[in-house]
Amino acid sequence: MSVSRYQQLAQTLRRQIDAQVWLPGDKLPSLRESCKQSGLSLMTVLQAYQLLESQGDIVSRPQSGYYVAPRQQVRRNHRTPQSLHTAEQIDVNDAIFDILKAAQDPDIVPLGSAFPDPTLFPQPRLARSLASAVRRMSAHSATANLPPGNEELRRCIAQRYAQQGIEVAPDEIVITSGAMESLGLSLQVLTEPGDWVAIESPAFYGALQAIERRQLKAVAIPTDAGEGINLDALEEALETYPIKACWLMANFQNPLGCSLSVEKKQRLVAILQQHNVALIEDDVYAELYFSADRPMPLKMSDHRQQILHCSSFSKCLAPGFRVGWVAAGQYAERIQRLQLMSTLSASVPVQLALADFLQQGGYDTHLRRIRRQLEQRQMAMYHAICSLFPVSVSVVLPDGGYFLWLDLGEQVDAVRLYQRALAKGVSIAPGTLFAVEDRYRHCIRLNTSFEWDSRCEQAIKLLAELVADEVKRAD
Ligand SMILES: Cc1ncc(COP(=O)(O)O)c(C=O)c1O
Repeated sequence: MSVSRYQQLAQTLRRQIDAQVWLPGDKLPSLRESCKQSGLSLMTVLQAYQLLESQGDIVSRPQSGYYVAPRQQVRRNHRTPQSLHTAEQIDVNDAIFDILKAAQDPDIVPLGSAFPDPTLFPQPRLARSLASAVRRMSAHSATANLPPGNEELRRCIAQRYAQQGIEVAPDEIVITSGAMESLGLSLQVLTEPGDWVAIESPAFYGALQAIERRQLKAVAIPTDAGEGINLDALEEALETYPIKACWLMANFQNPLGCSLSVEKKQRLVAILQQHNVALIEDDVYAELYFSADRPMPLKMSDHRQQILHCSSFSKCLAPGFRVGWVAAGQYAERIQRLQLMSTLSASVPVQLALADFLQQGGYDTHLRRIRRQLEQRQMAMYHAICSLFPVSVSVVLPDGGYFLWLDLGEQVDAVRLYQRALAKGVSIAPGTLFAVEDRYRHCIRLNTSFEWDSRCEQAIKLLAELVADEVKRAD
C-alpha cells in the first residue's frame, strides 16, 4: 500500500517524538517552517499535523501552534480513584499551616505555595489607584460601600460577565474579602451543620477547611487530572446521599489544573438541575488561560439561578488586596446579611482602588501579559520535569493557571519527600493536603508561576534527585 506524503511526514514526526527529539509540551515547527524544511505544500503539512492531532500525539493551541501532547501514562489512569469516598467528619492536616508559613520565608523556594509570584502584578499602577481612591474617599464612603459593596466595582464585574455573554446584574454581586469569603458565605447560605455536600477528590484544601468549620459531611467525587470530575460518580452520589450543595471548579482546578470540556460542563449543570442541587462554582483561576478564549464558567448555563459563581482578583491582579465576589443571583440578599453579621464588608479604599483600576488601569493588557508569562514559566518547569524526573513520574500539562500535578508512583511517599525537600530549602504541596482520605500520598502539586531562573532550576533538580532516591529505596 502506498503511503501518501502527508502520512510520511506524520510518521517522521512521530518517530522524532518517540526518540525524544521533541519532548512533551514542545512547540513543533510552525506550518510555514515545516513547509520550508520539507518542501511540501501547506495543505500536505496541515494534513500531517491534523493526522497526528487526531491520534493524540500532538495538540493545537489556537493562535499559538502545534505542541507535542503531554505525557499521560496509562498507569496514571489506573490510579485515578473510581469509588466515592465519604467523610462524616473532616479534619484537615496541620501541614497546610506549615506550608503557608514556609511561603513567607524568603529563604525557601515556595513551590508548595498557592500564591502566584508577587512580581507578576502591576504594583505601581495599583498603588496610584489606591492613592487616588483614598484622596477621593468621602466621609460617607464607609457606609456607602457596605454590602453588597462598591457599586462601580460591581458594575465593572457585571460588565465583564456581559462581555462573555452572561447576564449578571450588579445587584446580584456581593463584594467579599477574597474568594475565600465568598465561597464560605455561599456554603453557609446553602447548608446547615450536618448536611452533605459533594466536592472533588482531590480538592482545594480551602474547601475542606470550610466544610470542616461548618461541620458538614462530604462526598468526594473522583476527579482526573486529564478529564476532570467523574460525572457518573457524581450522579451516583446525588442518588445515594441527600446532598444539599456541590462545590466544584470547572476551570483550572486546584490542585489538578484540569478543565472540563464544554460538553462535560453542560452535562454537569444538567445533572445538578435534575437533582435540584445548588452549585458553588469556584472560578478563581479562570482569567489565567493560555488558549485564545476565556473558558466559560458553569454559571453560563445557570437558567435556574442555582449557581453561585465565586471569584476574586487574588490570582490575576492584586493578591494582597483581598477582594473577591460572588455572583449569587437569588441568594445575594441572604449572603449580604451573613456578611453584615461576620466581616461587615471588604476594605473600602481597596474596593475603590480596584474600581478605578478596572476602569482605567489597563486590566486586559495586564492579563494578556501575565498569561504569556505564566505559560512560558509553566512550559519551562514542565520541560525540566520531563527531562530530569524518573520516567515513571507522570504529569499532565494544563491549559492555564499555574499548577502542575505530579503522580510520582506508588513507591514515593510525598509527605516524606515534602519534609526532605523543605530541609533543603524547597517547599512542595504533598497530595495529602487535598483530600480527607489518604489517596494522594504519592502525588505533589508544584507552583509554576515563578520566574524560571537558576534558583527554580536547582529546586527542580533537587526534587528530581529526591524522587529518584525514593524510587531507588523502594526497589
Ligand atoms: C481554588 C481556590 N479557591 C479559592 C482560593 C482563595 O482565593 P482568595 O485568595 O481570593 O480568597 C484559592 C487560593 O489559593 C484557590 O486556590
